[in-house]
Amino acid sequence: MKKIIQPVKGTRDFYPDRMAIRNWLYQKVRKVSESFGYQEYDGPFLERIDLYAAKSGEEIVKEQAFVFQDRGGDHISLRPELTPTLARMVAQRQNELALPLRWWSFGPFWRYERPQKGRTREFFQWNIDLIGTNTPEADAELIAVSALFFENVGLTSSQVGILVNDRHLMETLFQELGINAHQNKSAFHLIDRVDKLSGAEWEAFALESGIQQNQYSGLRDMLNDHDLWNKSHQLRRVFDAVDAMGVRDYVHFDPKIVRGLDYYTTTVFEGRSLEGEGRALLGGGHYDNLVNDVGGSPLPGVGFAMGDVMITLLLEQYGLCPKFCEGIAPIFITVFDETRLKDSFALAAEIRQTGQKIYCYPEAAKLQKQLKLADRMGTRFVIILGPDEEEKGVVTLKDLVNHNQQTIARGEVGRYLVSQLGV
Ligand code: HAM
Repeated sequence: MKKIIQPVKGTRDFYPDRMAIRNWLYQKVRKVSESFGYQEYDGPFLERIDLYAAKSGEEIVKEQAFVFQDRGGDHISLRPELTPTLARMVAQRQNELALPLRWWSFGPFWRYERPQKGRTREFFQWNIDLIGTNTPEADAELIAVSALFFENVGLTSSQVGILVNDRHLMETLFQELGINAHQNKSAFHLIDRVDKLSGAEWEAFALESGIQQNQYSGLRDMLNDHDLWNKSHQLRRVFDAVDAMGVRDYVHFDPKIVRGLDYYTTTVFEGRSLEGEGRALLGGGHYDNLVNDVGGSPLPGVGFAMGDVMITLLLEQYGLCPKFCEGIAPIFITVFDETRLKDSFALAAEIRQTGQKIYCYPEAAKLQKQLKLADRMGTRFVIILGPDEEEKGVVTLKDLVNHNQQTIARGEVGRYLVSQLGV
């Protein structure tokens, strides 16, 4: 038996129906990004691995990056994220760019992760960042962008939320528990895993990371205290600003949100489904040092990224993904026989000139077969151009939606279709 070569594990085929959803998402992302004055940009899909080694964190570099050595011996990675590339692009032109800058992007990324629900090895991400300002209001703007996106695709504040925390606040609280500054990174890593491990596993992990028993209890209490945000001047301003921007309903404080990437310094946030668990829909935060870590002068930034996988699953679960027949032409010209093939193509060309999308059957075939295809494609109008029509200088026009048909002068059909379908 013939065997089809399997696709690479963790990748997805985008058949036209899935492609239409991806494009729809891209349009929504563009609309929200542009409504806040952000400009579209992109970086290369290949980067030197050193770029991520600068600050992203060990997990991305050592476990997740798709790395290979090129023929010149350089270690190259398929991009696992965009933020270091953005920092590099800003650092390269730091003196020419008009700051603060607001940029967004939508494109493919690769991470070698165990494929599972909501997780693939090749995925698309919307990235959006504001660079060159250090205020909590800038952080709030990005939170508002994510909330507006949710609102725009029909997800309400009882279905999804944006959970916010302040890493600096956590560091201050660590200090009060006697956790040394050099242990901060492992304490964040520990908190990042709290919902991924059982209680006993988490305790064992804490003790292994060098946290003492009394500090462990203190950490547990901290993670259950939902009023802690009052102690953070930063978060008080963030919450005030999201209130002013009209999206306060979507935003909640959560001390368990610390994020897995090392470059975040203060505000961090994640978008999550509130009904039923599941992975983050999006994640981001404020980073003070990334631009200088890749060789520029210090410049703060804030941003987030949203993958296409989880959000599409959620939208489908709520029936919010439109059903598409996008790209399929609403007009279908049949080919009566071999001798009239050219006539059909010529008429299609004429009608296409009026701005209509039109599909011409590519060969002579049984009319029944062509009509069946037109029906499967969800076509609205079918044109038949046979010997009778030719003799009278007309065409037969079938309307498959309203189930009627009419005869119409060949020279008029283009205008008539424009009147019915618009341009
Ligand atoms: P991240 O949390 O690593 O952040 O990824 C952001 C989002 O990308 C996740 O919430 C998820 O939706 C999606 N994502 C990540 N990995 C996968 C995967 N294997 N399969 C499917 N979706 C995935 C960042 O990437 C930061 N660079 C975001 C950022 C931008 N921070 C500041 N600006």
